[in-house]
Amino acid sequence: MTISRMLSTIVLVSAFMAAVSMMGCSRDEPSVGLFLYNEADPYIKEFAKQIMEESGPVFTPVQYDAGNSQLIQNEQLEGLLVRNPALVIVNPVDRLSSHSVLRKLQAAGIPGIFFNREPLAGDLALWEKSYYVGAKAEQSGQLQAQLVMQLFGGEPENLNGYDRNDDGRIQAIILKGEQGHQDAEIRTREVLRSFEAAGFIVEVLALEIANWNRDEAYAKMGPLLKDYRNNVELVVSNNDAMALGAISMMRQTGMFQDSNRNGRIDRSDELWIPVVGIDGLKEAEGSIAEGYLYGTVKNDSLSMAKAIVELSGILLGHIDPSMARYPVEDGTYIWIDYRPFISEQ
Ligand code: BGC
Repeated sequence: MTISRMLSTIVLVSAFMAAVSMMGCSRDEPSVGLFLYNEADPYIKEFAKQIMEESGPVFTPVQYDAGNSQLIQNEQLEGLLVRNPALVIVNPVDRLSSHSVLRKLQAAGIPGIFFNREPLAGDLALWEKSYYVGAKAEQSGQLQAQLVMQLFGGEPENLNGYDRNDDGRIQAIILKGEQGHQDAEIRTREVLRSFEAAGFIVEVLALEIANWNRDEAYAKMGPLLKDYRNNVELVVSNNDAMALGAISMMRQTGMFQDSNRNGRIDRSDELWIPVVGIDGLKEAEGSIAEGYLYGTVKNDSLSMAKAIVELSGILLGHIDPSMARYPVEDGTYIWIDYRPFISEQ
């Protein structure tokens, strides 16, 4: 942002704050609601924290956690909508439920910003003041595949030593997120399509659904490793939480060995199997630094939080749309890029 842009944003924000106090509005009045599908999800927990921090100087959303229940989220939304909020920011439990939420918002004339769980395009089209802030899941699958192909030497005809049985194919276990979630469906499809398009033969030993959840991935890897421990050459996970769960079980069954006991895995000469995730959780970065997790693809929630807050400022009328750093495409979407993240050893 240029200095003059920054100054004008500050002037606009201060003018808004002054107007709020002149109108005698209480700062406690819940005029913006932030609805989370499940705060127990570490990616969402961090995301919500970033939204709260970014919105700090401009407005204070009231946060609701649905604990992964659509029924609870409906009640929470209805409870706030009767109080005529200025804006709602929604991370739906079931993205298909957005249809009825959008109808209610439209009837009440309340703008809505959805994030992370993408409503169907037809549903977003129901209400002109509805938006989606997210990332294109295809891109994460493609970047994840690129990280793997690079690790295996980049040439499908000539895989390196990570092709342990030297059969010219990569034997893989796939951990999938929640069925029906756009990210789980598209990431899984796209990572496999990208291997195929580049001529890499990936043999899927097993595809297991672990609902984005670390403990579930840990538990499901147990029986899988009984069957495939000696064959598996790669674990592809739809997110970091499941990748970390898989690594815990793999460590327990001796698939990683810090032979020289220097506190990290040196993959060039120690026992190691590549696991790739998506999100860029802090713990995943830690695991990469220790040499366990091979890599991740950052699902940049901080930029998304900034985009949500900026768009909220515009909808609440105190940021000039021409100042926007995150442009709205097709009147509805703000897309944030994924970024690959590994540590070279
Ligand atoms: C993230 C997952 C998260 C899910 C929640 C995905 O974009 O990659 O880690 O559990 O969103 O909806």
